[in-house]
Amino acid sequence: MRRPFVAGNWKMNTDLAAGRELAIGLRSALNPHPPGVDVAVCPPFPYLAAIAESIRGSSIQLGAQNMYFETNGAFTGEVSGPMLRDVGCAFCILGHSERRHTIGSVGPGGAVHGEDDALINRKLKAAFAHGLTPILCVGETLAERESNQTERVLDRQVRGGFAGVPAIQAARTVVAYEPVWAIGTGRNATPAQAQEAHAFIRRLIETLYDAYTAADLRLLYGGSVKASNAAELIGQPDVDGALVGGASLNAGDFAAIVQAAGRVNATATASR
Ligand code: PGA
Repeated sequence: MRRPFVAGNWKMNTDLAAGRELAIGLRSALNPHPPGVDVAVCPPFPYLAAIAESIRGSSIQLGAQNMYFETNGAFTGEVSGPMLRDVGCAFCILGHSERRHTIGSVGPGGAVHGEDDALINRKLKAAFAHGLTPILCVGETLAERESNQTERVLDRQVRGGFAGVPAIQAARTVVAYEPVWAIGTGRNATPAQAQEAHAFIRRLIETLYDAYTAADLRLLYGGSVKASNAAELIGQPDVDGALVGGASLNAGDFAAIVQAAGRVNATATASR
């Protein structure tokens, strides 16, 4: 059975003091830690080492929000996998929709050229090479959903992200389905929409690899997850947890989402 996973993406938020306070607050809100649930926080780069100290000895793990695929060298402003390992990261978010669609050079007509699947694929391979578990984000924009392109976009992003990745690593990858229209908007996908997209991704992984890899792969839902909708979303058969943005900035709210994942897991375990 897949172990539920709840990760908090702090994005470009907090300062050092507020980050520490949030981590320490989360640590006490999750004591005792709900059994059977993996939890990670992903603070901004400059605070990773400090937050690693704040969560030391707890069951909360550390993740980064991005990385570069090269190990070191003349890559001004970039951060490598070994650097992230050095400060205690176990996970790294890759291909977040803000990196694909919000941050980048602006082309004619105002289109933002952010990260593409080929770059994200190089990062994913580098993450494994340096002992980090990637959290690969995929998801369609509102225009793509409204023009019935959702499955096409997911197909392209998953195939692109996993190109040349062996089954043993694919099974360990965490994929976050994050419909762009649901991120930071307060408008979450319905549990049925999330389940449909997740089932599509899992079937695709089975096609690209095999049934065992598909069964092992953890698929998180992300996009306006909060304490009030977490249980229903995570209760879907192919939803194995959540990638949480806004609600991860409040220790009580984030802890409530983790507790909800714990309850879903306990119910599922008891009914088997
Ligand atoms: P949100 O962000 O929870 O604020 O919608 C999710 C994400 O971007 O990972």
